[in-house]
Amino acid sequence: MKFNMNNDVVIFGMDNSWELASKIGKSINREITPVQKTTFADGEQLLFSNITVRDQSVFIICNTSRPVNDNLMSLLIFIDSLKRASAQRIIVVMTYYGYARQDRKASGRQPITARLVADLLSTAGADKVITIDLHNPSIQGFFNIPVDDLRGQFIFSNELRARKDKFVIVSPDHGGAVRARQLSELLKNDDEIAIIDKRRTGPNKSEIMGVLGNVEGKNVIIYDDIIDTGGTILNAAHALKKQGAKKIIIAATHGLFSKGFEMFENESIIDEVIVTDSTDHSSLSHFKKLRVLSLAQFLGLVIEANLNKTSITEIYNAYSQGKF
Ligand code: R5P
Repeated sequence: MKFNMNNDVVIFGMDNSWELASKIGKSINREITPVQKTTFADGEQLLFSNITVRDQSVFIICNTSRPVNDNLMSLLIFIDSLKRASAQRIIVVMTYYGYARQDRKASGRQPITARLVADLLSTAGADKVITIDLHNPSIQGFFNIPVDDLRGQFIFSNELRARKDKFVIVSPDHGGAVRARQLSELLKNDDEIAIIDKRRTGPNKSEIMGVLGNVEGKNVIIYDDIIDTGGTILNAAHALKKQGAKKIIIAATHGLFSKGFEMFENESIIDEVIVTDSTDHSSLSHFKKLRVLSLAQFLGLVIEANLNKTSITEIYNAYSQGKF
């Protein structure tokens, strides 16, 4: 018989988030429990907890990056198992929310998958979702359960504040302008930002119409939520170079790198690519231009705040005062 010795909290790490989950566990001195998983011959999955979760607060550290459909289904099945095992409260710490980019009907007869995923999570049994840099913060409103959409700018500003160079923060599209401004403000950057005027021409395809703002002779950080194929951000880098930008750093919360990292490593105009470990990058550790910032301490503090019923604003304040 397996007992849960951790009083009234169990923190699970899904397979594809295990590395980050382990670091979170270390940072808050709590045990991380693996998920039992069996795959049947036809691909069906069975996921469940090996220890009791009856009347416990349960956290699941997970992400639904590649392969998005499998990882999403695994998560839903696991949430369902916890609900049926009488967990008191199921809090999904979803460091990357797949399907977030379809957040509206961009043209006739299209689905809104960000809403569909919200419905699926709630139906499965999630009581709360903690996530970071949702593609569009309005997705919070697709849920009827609480959502903490954490702001990754605090992690990036912590890293960039320590650097000697000054940078103009550039959003690679109009949608990311608020995010770029927030990072610029945290860096006390004289509010200098620039925006790429981008037009989407198809899935994973875009065209640059121009650059709004002055980058001539300046170092720039192109700041996005997601790097998927890399097309958007590399196009932005070339447009900025043409406008006379000096050093170019790329920063994004979610580095999916669906077409590999080589295109960045081999691109002479790119100095560095900074992402978080919202998805796993252990297979990319040999690339020199890649820098991965860990969310472990930040998420650990957020989990503790949820348990202690304290404010996340206090965590943001501590980060902006450079306490971490
Ligand atoms: C789009 O609106 C997102 O913010 C990202 O810019 C986009 O998903 C990046 O995709 P890719 O790397 O394939 O161009």
